Amino acid sequence: MITYLVTGAAGFIGSNFVKYITSKYGNDIKVIVLDALTYAGNINSIKEELELPNVSFVKGDIKDYCVVKEIFDDNDIDFVVNFAAESHVDRSIENPKLFLETNILGTQNLLNCAREAWADGKDDTGKPAYKKGKKYLQISTDEVYGSLEKDFDEAQPLHVDDELKQVIEGRHNLTTFGKKFFTEETPLSPRSPYSASKTSADMIAMAYHHTYNFPVNITRCSNNYGPYHFPEKLIPLVIHNILNGKKLPVYGKGLNVRDWLYVEDHCKAIDLVLRKGKIGEVYNIGGFNEESNINIVKLIIDTIARIMREEPKYQSLLNCNLEDINYDLITYVTDRPGHDMRYAIDPTKIATQLGWYPETPFTVGIEKTIRWNLDNQQWIDDVTSGDYQKYYEQMYGNR
Ligand code: NAD
Ligand code: DAU
Repeated sequence: MITYLVTGAAGFIGSNFVKYITSKYGNDIKVIVLDALTYAGNINSIKEELELPNVSFVKGDIKDYCVVKEIFDDNDIDFVVNFAAESHVDRSIENPKLFLETNILGTQNLLNCAREAWADGKDDTGKPAYKKGKKYLQISTDEVYGSLEKDFDEAQPLHVDDELKQVIEGRHNLTTFGKKFFTEETPLSPRSPYSASKTSADMIAMAYHHTYNFPVNITRCSNNYGPYHFPEKLIPLVIHNILNGKKLPVYGKGLNVRDWLYVEDHCKAIDLVLRKGKIGEVYNIGGFNEESNINIVKLIIDTIARIMREEPKYQSLLNCNLEDINYDLITYVTDRPGHDMRYAIDPTKIATQLGWYPETPFTVGIEKTIRWNLDNQQWIDDVTSGDYQKYYEQMYGNR
């Protein structure tokens, strides 16, 4: 029986991860969720999992030594998976301090408590040793590498070497906007308060590995999309606004590029790294799915309009006329300060060493995501009531 401490699992990726591992491993695992339930955390996202006898929830802050220590005192934790973070770049520009506190000090507190609980004397070489099978996984981001150049205005065919061809078999028309990609060797060069805080967290996690021989892995993933995504991020925000007949705010000219990965594919990668990843290693996770923001927004408009026409039952969700779902909804607004131009992950290491590959083509993933949003309006209503309206007005009111 493996016991997981999953932090931030009332949020987007963490909730999907808890769903993934509970359905894959059933009663062979025990899961303890620690989440502070900030604006981004919604306990209903894991409601069904919390009804399972082997899943429990602690409301608390990853920075709180007593809370985290008590969890380790009461449970023989094997894996810590740290999703808990302040995760939205725009909010980090408004309030950097909160990001540094949660993302850096929170991570250090978790590392510290795990190290205390797992310590097991010294190994043959005199280095600190830990109980067998323990691992701390820091969920990080491609943003720690900074921004890549966009070499092409339009996406060009992507050429991959023979080794990687095997793992992307079945996926066609892979394209890219640039010649360079983020590898695990790319120097860290964060450019927003959010990414600077995530980079610092990575560095402290690696410092624990090098200094204390502590069993750490780091995963650095590209932009995720899928169910339970909070509608402050581009894709769910655009879906939400279309259904409500609201303008779709595109930063700058909409030409920035992101590498989109369906969240379940990310969860599979995390599971592999936990079970098979080599201690002390970093693994990049990405979808080979680069797209410009403006094309993403147009694709979502087209897909929602098509679904509404083909399945009129969904039209009752519209707070606008079906004919109004078109590109006129797009509004170009003041750019994000320091806006990173392009992210693109090279996933060769995790693909060749652990056998992972991004299974979900974007056209499939985006339709699943839109349908999930259409079918789960109660979840959307819950998370967009209250503070969300204030946030939206503050962020977009004068843009
Ligand atoms: P999210 O904002 O949806 O969820 C964050 C969760 O952490 C929420 O449930 C929140 O309540 C909780 N939390 C925040 N502060 C906390 C604290 N002090 N103590 C305990 N819980 C706290 O984030 P997400 O998009 O699910 O991202 C999860 C992790 O993955 C983050 O570390 C993020 O940096 C990383 N990441 C995200 C993406 C992405 O595209 N969303 C991509 C790569 C990496
Ligand atoms: O790359 C991984 C990162 O992806 C994660 O580490 C972050 O936690 C996650 O939030 C995400 O960061 P981004 O800043 O890339 O995601 P966001 O959805 O905020 O923005 C995606 C792109 O869309 C970005 O270029 C900014 C743009 N954008 C965003 C919003 C919210 C708009 O044009 N309009 C918007 O209203």
